[in-house]
Amino acid sequence: MTLDNDIERVLFSEGEILSGIDRVAREVTRTYQGRDFTVVSVLKGSCVFASDLIRRIPIPLELAFLAASSYGDGTTSGALEINFIPTGNEIEGRNLLLVDDILDTGRTLHKLKAELSKRGAAEVRTCVFLDKPSRREAPIKPDFRAFEVENLFVVGYGLDYAGRYRNLPYVGALKEVVYAAPKKTARG
Ligand code: XMP
Repeated sequence: MTLDNDIERVLFSEGEILSGIDRVAREVTRTYQGRDFTVVSVLKGSCVFASDLIRRIPIPLELAFLAASSYGDGTTSGALEINFIPTGNEIEGRNLLLVDDILDTGRTLHKLKAELSKRGAAEVRTCVFLDKPSRREAPIKPDFRAFEVENLFVVGYGLDYAGRYRNLPYVGALKEVVYAAPKKTARG
């Protein structure tokens, strides 16, 4: 039994993902050529994308991490709790490229952008692996994105369902039976 058994269909294969990231990396490189910048990877989902992305950017950059969780029922705005944020001197006066796995309602990145600006960042741009524009609620458009995705819950390449599937090398839609099954604990 492998994770592949739970996947209904593959949306982006490993090869498609890497060529999409090559394109985004070229766009990012053009934008920051000759300027200092820091890639801020939003944990946990963006760690796979961020690590492939930075290795395709051949100009100097620094790397930082941020972790946030949101609480809410999906219909209210939901409070965003920042669990981990770069230190003041990693933010103040810096050009930040906030990297996330997926831009869905947009609430998370909208709030994180505002928080980093409030803490003194010189500039905050956003780069997402997947963009689901049909779900947008907050006024935000990504500055860079690898792929647009339809309104489906997707897993793989960093994206999880109940903490699993992040290690799939492709992006896929889960079989309905997986959602319907009673939740397993972390110990399975
Ligand atoms: P918002 O709505 O604030 O949410 O843009 C972004 C976060 O929601 C999670 N998310 C997903 N995770 N498959 C996932 O595995 C999905 O299809 C999906 N849609 C939203 C994700 O954590 C993202 O950072």
